[in-house]
Amino acid sequence: MPAQGLLVLCQVVILALLSSARQPPNIVLIFADDLGFGDLASYGHPSSTTPNLDKMAAGGLRFTDFYSSSPVCSPSRAALLTGRYQTRSGVYPGVFYPGSRGGLPLAEVTVAELLKGRGYTTAMVGKWHLGVGPNGMFLPTHQGFDHYLGVPYSHDQGPCRNLTCFPPSTPCFGNCDLGVVPVPLLWNQTIIEQPLSFPRLQPRYVAFARDFIRACARHNQPFLLYYASHHTHYPQFGSQEYVGRSPRGPFGDALLEFDGAVGHILQALQESGVENDSLVFFTSDNGPEMMRMSRGGSSGHLKCGKGTTYEGGMREPAVAYWPGRIAPGVTHELASTLDILPTVAALTGAPLPNVTLDGYDLSSLLFGSRKSPRQAVFYYPPAPSQLLGVFAVRYGKYKAHFFTQGAFHSDTTPDHDCHGTTPLMAHEPPLLFDLESDPAENYNLLQAEAVGPDVLAVLKEVWLQKALFDRLMEFGESQPGRGSDPSLEPCCSPRCSPKPSCCSCASAS
Ligand SMILES: *[C@@H]1O[C@H](CO)[C@@H](O)[C@H](O)[C@H]1NC(C)=O
Ligand SMILES: *[C@@H]1O[C@H](CO)[C@@H](O)[C@H](O)[C@H]1NC(C)=O
Ligand SMILES: *[C@@H]1O[C@H](CO)[C@@H](O)[C@H](O)[C@H]1NC(C)=O
Repeated sequence: MPAQGLLVLCQVVILALLSSARQPPNIVLIFADDLGFGDLASYGHPSSTTPNLDKMAAGGLRFTDFYSSSPVCSPSRAALLTGRYQTRSGVYPGVFYPGSRGGLPLAEVTVAELLKGRGYTTAMVGKWHLGVGPNGMFLPTHQGFDHYLGVPYSHDQGPCRNLTCFPPSTPCFGNCDLGVVPVPLLWNQTIIEQPLSFPRLQPRYVAFARDFIRACARHNQPFLLYYASHHTHYPQFGSQEYVGRSPRGPFGDALLEFDGAVGHILQALQESGVENDSLVFFTSDNGPEMMRMSRGGSSGHLKCGKGTTYEGGMREPAVAYWPGRIAPGVTHELASTLDILPTVAALTGAPLPNVTLDGYDLSSLLFGSRKSPRQAVFYYPPAPSQLLGVFAVRYGKYKAHFFTQGAFHSDTTPDHDCHGTTPLMAHEPPLLFDLESDPAENYNLLQAEAVGPDVLAVLKEVWLQKALFDRLMEFGESQPGRGSDPSLEPCCSPRCSPKPSCCSCASAS
């Protein structure tokens, strides 16, 4: 080989080595609970204090048209972790309870399992809500997470006994679930405190997340951290550092504490020197629980909230943050929690699981053309059925409602469409909105004086989208539908009596 050719070959080899030596990014998923589109200062809330999330929003790519897959919790989380609609995995109708027999099926491939296959270390902190099951068989440690610290369901799914606000003498506002075990704190699969101390909860989560990031960075070990906060789900709580500090009352304090956790995570990444090697993605599971009034969240100018297929139920604040890789800005492109798994797979070189996925690789949106491959969004109610299929379809800037229904989660605002007493209604033709000129879904295009041919073409397209989607959807066996068994509720003292109140143990840490 002539010397010139050898030199070129060497250069090619060196370049290849350099690019393969570039470690795949760490992945940090930050998930808020019942946080609405209008709750952050960076999304226009006039009295929220969210400096860290706002810093992320300013330094990253902020989404205005980002959707969860469901207006309630468990299905939304199932879709985030699997890249598949909840109907496929069977995480419907509704949510899991402490004694639920079912859970996210173990055969589903989570983003954690995907990354473990690429040599990542994985940890989850916070709210799981994808089942506990017999012998804890559905806990995060069986779904690809090496480490877990958290509550395996919602923190109102237990008596509010120790769920005090600060100072501890302040009574809980409203009702939590009675007749079930006190809320437990788990480390991997072991209950370390029951009932847990809510004022101490987030400081523990933050310490755990920080230690995990530092340890991984020290060993040059790529990692996944899934931080699923209980904030700002009802009832609101906070630690001494945050309670009474926000102008927005108990909700604002809880949000401020959540924002504080985001700050600690970003700081740990920076101090460990991995900030520029980590993709941090933030969003929320579903819209705000308006029935809690000022102690619930806000969907801003969007219609209704949690439990509904109006925009306020499923459109969420979202930010992709990766200094040096993702240029700061705002995008109006369509994206979804369903897209996280395929995007992470593309970024890390992980092979996609051999299943039907519902998400898209957003690499071009994040790093390139800034265009999203996603053209449509499909809206399932909390209790989807094969008979009705999706309730609404967004196609480009248009949204068509084929069915609408209120939800008690969205009670108390003046808009009766949102309320739990508003029954299921079929719309034929659908209600059709232009979400760019009318994001609040106020003005049905088909009620306009003159319906132009362009609108009729849109109508045809959304019909087609719905028919195609519903026809191809395969419903998995309902997991919440398997019912509950009180003996499956997590109990730190399994043989005690009388249950459930005897399931109470002092902190082991
Ligand atoms: C949790 O499990 C991981 C292994 O998956 C282990 O390294 C860690 O020490 C465990 N933590 C506790 C507190 O048992
Ligand atoms: C990370 O990237 C930012 C922006 O490109 C740069 O200013 C900073 O120096 C980088 N930090 C490290 C530790 O490389
Ligand atoms: C993927 O799954 C299908 C059926 O579930 C199977 O027939 C096929 O062989 C699988 N492909 C691979 C590459 O494993």
